Amino acid sequence: MTSRVALVTGGTGGIGTAICKRLAQAGHRVATNYRNEGKARAWAEAMREEGFGFTLVRGDVSSPDEAATMVRQVEEALGPIDILVNNAGITRDATFHRMSPEQWTEVINTNLNSCFNVTRAVIEGMRERKWGRIVQISSINGQKGQYGQANYAAAKAGMHGFTISLAQENAKLGITVNTVSPGYIGTDMVMAVPEPVREKIIAQIPTGRLGTPEEIAYAVAFFVAEEAAWITGANLAANGGQYMGW
Ligand code: CAA
Repeated sequence: MTSRVALVTGGTGGIGTAICKRLAQAGHRVATNYRNEGKARAWAEAMREEGFGFTLVRGDVSSPDEAATMVRQVEEALGPIDILVNNAGITRDATFHRMSPEQWTEVINTNLNSCFNVTRAVIEGMRERKWGRIVQISSINGQKGQYGQANYAAAKAGMHGFTISLAQENAKLGITVNTVSPGYIGTDMVMAVPEPVREKIIAQIPTGRLGTPEEIAYAVAFFVAEEAAWITGANLAANGGQYMGW
């Protein structure tokens, strides 16, 4: 297989960590960004103990300047980025009639504007080299909406609109652009949902359990494979059957 350079944003989080590991196990050289130095250092150390050597660069994906700097630093360290996984994301849940402008803006900036910021910094290189894989990590809640998540659902639905437009513009240049829409995965983000609410959500999942980060990483690995060259503009739901829209 060809070893490529991959940038996974938000790689130190629950799903991000599994994606970084999976891409490394597929033979790629993997980088991620961080905002919190202490957390990043502890994460890198834990990864080293497991035998993974990831490149870490500081940078806030919600800032166009920091995203551009981050991409440049990854490329200086590892070479041109061929695989980009826009995974960084946050929640600021609140019913809309109580939502503050900050809760709205933080989520749109981190989850959606970040896709512009980071992808804009890598797309020209991919177009020149005529090869690329871009994957957005969206959410079941971008597909079905969610009580308390007008901000998050808007951002996550927007990510797939971004995917299908970029897919059309770049298809002739060997670049595929796809979305993975995870359902509820057993990460800190989902564990922060109040327990009674979480129990009700799990009761709606036909498989009867939360998903694992590794199950999402598997979907990402599928899209970035060399053999997936004809799959572009797709949205792959990995949600235990909780939402089966098509
Ligand atoms: N459907 C219908 N009603 C709901 C509801 C739901 N899903 N969730 C809450 N409500 C109702 C409650 O029953 C309650 O009604 P009553 O006043 O009649 O009893 C009312 O809304 C207020 O609920 P809370 O007491 O919880 O109010 P709150 O203001 O403290 O919190 C909330 C509201 C922020 C929406 C909170 O319920 C919450 O955090 N819900 C979880 C939202 C969620 O699923 N987030 C997903 C996070 S994980 C993620 O995003 C990853 C991913 O991609 C899947």
